[in-house]
Amino acid sequence: CGIIGYIGDGRASRIIVKGLKRLEYRGYDSAGIVTEEDGKLYIKKGAGRIDELSKELGFPEMPGKRGIGHTRWATHGIPNDINAHPQTDCTGKIALVHNGIIENYRELREELLKRGHRFDSDTDTEVIAHLIEDELKSGGSFEEAMRRALLRLKGSFALGIIYTEEPDKLYFVRNESPLVLGIGEGENFAASDVPAFLEYTNRVVFLDDREYAIIGKDFWVVKNLDSGETVEKPVQKIGWSLEMAEKAGYPHFMLKEIYEQPRAIRDALHGNAGIIRSVAEEVARYEKIFIVAMGTSYHAGLVAKYLFQRLAKKVPIVEDASEFRYEFEDLVDENTLVIAITQSGETADTLAAMKLAKRKGAKVLAIVNVVGSMATRIADLTLYTHAGPEIGVAATKTYTTQLTVLTMLAIELARVLGTAGEEYLERLEMELNTVPELVERVLKHDGSLRELAEYLREKRDFFYIGRGISVPTALEGALKLKEISYIHAEGLSAGELKHGPLALLEDGVPVVAIAPGGKTFDKVVSNIEESKARGAYIISIGNRDDLGKVSDVFVKMPEMDELLTPIVYAVPLQLLAYHLAVLRGNDPDKPRNLAKSVTVE
Ligand code: G6P
Repeated sequence: CGIIGYIGDGRASRIIVKGLKRLEYRGYDSAGIVTEEDGKLYIKKGAGRIDELSKELGFPEMPGKRGIGHTRWATHGIPNDINAHPQTDCTGKIALVHNGIIENYRELREELLKRGHRFDSDTDTEVIAHLIEDELKSGGSFEEAMRRALLRLKGSFALGIIYTEEPDKLYFVRNESPLVLGIGEGENFAASDVPAFLEYTNRVVFLDDREYAIIGKDFWVVKNLDSGETVEKPVQKIGWSLEMAEKAGYPHFMLKEIYEQPRAIRDALHGNAGIIRSVAEEVARYEKIFIVAMGTSYHAGLVAKYLFQRLAKKVPIVEDASEFRYEFEDLVDENTLVIAITQSGETADTLAAMKLAKRKGAKVLAIVNVVGSMATRIADLTLYTHAGPEIGVAATKTYTTQLTVLTMLAIELARVLGTAGEEYLERLEMELNTVPELVERVLKHDGSLRELAEYLREKRDFFYIGRGISVPTALEGALKLKEISYIHAEGLSAGELKHGPLALLEDGVPVVAIAPGGKTFDKVVSNIEESKARGAYIISIGNRDDLGKVSDVFVKMPEMDELLTPIVYAVPLQLLAYHLAVLRGNDPDKPRNLAKSVTVE
């Protein structure tokens, strides 16, 4: 989602509409604006793209010199007019917009309902407005009430808040969702991202987590959310062009999205914590489970197979959806569960497989990134990956968040079925919660992977090998390379190497070995040696130092449970593919012949 706020002498709504258009890449299923004049709030919002809404609702004609706008990428509640932001409290004096996810919104909503609050929407956002209203009743200033309310929220949020009784201010809050102030002359801005106001000012103040800002026409102040004390913040000058700013300074969306993974994975964890149990209980009822998907999502399905097998002792059948729809019709019935994995929720083959499953009376669980997409409408149950919009055609953060959700599901399934010890499951769960930090550490290899890409840029064939749960990682590494660098690559189980592909190995052919520890580690090392004997150039990815001795290049990963390695080990493979694509002069965001979502068979 994207937020933009303005306070000054200009017509707020016009400046906000322009800002929203600059933020549209952050999500675009609905949008809304609130402005204020003479103590009255004006709100216009709806589902759809900003240009259309702007014309239909007359955004630019809204009165007032202060206001806040929002472009939404739904996380709770389907994209429609009511669920669009801003959301208001019962008195209609507080309006707010929100990015992020409030984990404990259900409890808070229950509590507020009991206290007589009435809700118009299904959003977690509306709860915040009512919570502030409630705190205001207990006395003190608006700022104090707001702080008290916000201290009760769990999850990630960036907020823009307007209150009719304080005509010269706007409030903005940041916790795990980005927010930056734009400092102008006689006017100030706040937004999720710099491009929203870059046209007016390049002087910015970046808020940190658990900080809030109060901005007026001629002043701004930043305070700590927990203590309420003022924080000294430097004003920085941005030297970026508008295009660079949209990519947050990264040269491509793909790289930006690779770097967003710690945040995305955190949101996937927060966003599903409250519902994973009930979904696992449903899944536990089925013996016959199919997992259907295409492309990178299919690889997530393959990882899920290992997770389900190892943790829940269930063996799902993973099928590419284009095959499933023609081959498995007779095998699907009311006792079948079909899990469909699709980032976009619009892939034709995956949707067809889901519809077939429904027709045959099967239960359908979808794992989807785009809220309100077709897949969520066909499915009986949906788990969202909360990765945010992905613009680069090659899937990165949507893949690692799919894996995060599938790992959560497998752990919970094991718990429901009693197929693994609780002590181990708890440890695994705790480690899963540290995956965002592990990914952050792995991102530090970026520089050395770029150097490696320099060395490999003229190579014509790559092989990616792994065993067990690392087989899908090998497949995904090869797919990333193919789709954006146009270098031929094959991913396969290391055991298969001898049965054909070995004939293709000659001097200098790169072999990327995915080698976390685990029971097959020694076997992978043998496969590495086999390849080396044929002159292959070995790049190994793992944690054990003995790998360094048998490899030309060793990319050292932090230590973690083997079941978590598919998420973390995907990252260096994404970076390697990215750098090779760029060095070879390709646009990694728009690979030739490929589309972000394939809506035809
Ligand atoms: C296209 C994209 C891939 C994606 C696949 C499945 O081929 O280029 O990146 O993995 O579709 O997409 P879905 O939206 O169903 O996950």
